[in-house]
Amino acid sequence: MDIIYGSPAQVGIVQRAAALHRLIGDDPRFTYQGRTVSLVGETPEAAGIVTDLVRLQGYSSVQFLPRAASARIQAHLAQAGLNPVEWEQFWGQDSALEAARDFLAGYSPPDGLELCETDADTDDDTIHRICAMSQDQGVLTVPGSVMRGAGPRGVMMYVRAPDGAVVAAGGGYMSYHPDSVRATEAFWGMLATAPDWRGKRLACWVGATVILRLAERYGARGFSSGVKADNAASQAMCTRLGLIQSEFVYSGATDPAMLGDGPITR
Ligand SMILES: CC(C)(COP(=O)(O)OP(=O)(O)OC[C@H]1O[C@@H](n2cnc3c(N)ncnc32)[C@H](O)[C@@H]1OP(=O)(O)O)[C@@H](O)C(=O)NCCC(=O)NCCS
Repeated sequence: MDIIYGSPAQVGIVQRAAALHRLIGDDPRFTYQGRTVSLVGETPEAAGIVTDLVRLQGYSSVQFLPRAASARIQAHLAQAGLNPVEWEQFWGQDSALEAARDFLAGYSPPDGLELCETDADTDDDTIHRICAMSQDQGVLTVPGSVMRGAGPRGVMMYVRAPDGAVVAAGGGYMSYHPDSVRATEAFWGMLATAPDWRGKRLACWVGATVILRLAERYGARGFSSGVKADNAASQAMCTRLGLIQSEFVYSGATDPAMLGDGPITR
């Protein structure tokens, strides 16, 4: 049985997304980071396709959407009775690689903390701790199976305290199709730090290491994340790691029939 955290509605969305990805994962128009299937880029059909993706899963968006095109998409989604939602797309290429290297060269983590990566042998208890800590911060994680290497290629990391508690986590996935113009881009994020451990650069430690591992292992040359306009901490963290607010947004919606008024993630 896979480990998926979230409300029953969120779990349903992640399960439907996995099923949808199994059916359409060979279509380069779509992106899947282990949580949800979204559309990539602006096309004349984008509004209709993303509406269908929301209806099928409960949430979806168009990524790498030029900001000027978002109003049309958001209006279409609202017209369909869905709850429109928009994230700023923070994005870095060389700037992210340079910032990650610079950060790690100058960083000394607090004593006793260990930075670890999930793999096929990661035990259930650790997966539960990563998911629970992240969910407490409002962050929807990928399923345990994806953390263990099924699904998109990627890197999931966490910081373990001496008592075994997971105090920070985050990851990145090669979420775009190999035939997509975004093939060398990675979705990066899902970063969360437990409240008592914030401000110690743990998110940067995790995030910078994820960036470099994605680059070394999978040839990732771009890294992007959706960040809400009011999430100052996440924006500061992204900027510190060379991901800056781009001309793109993630423009999407949730389906109130499946998710109510709740958010899909931070
Ligand atoms: C975002 C989050 C992961 C940052 O964790 P953290 O470990 O405290 O972050 P760091 O200590 O690595 O700080 C990274 C940078 O962000 C800045 N920062 C952190 N919190 C901040 C805040 N509340 N306001 C402004 N800047 C902030 C830090 O000063 C640092 O920048 P600097 O090195 O240039 O000074 C954490 O606040 C969190 O879990 N938030 C809730 C979940 C979330 O929103 N995740 C992101 C989803 S998009």
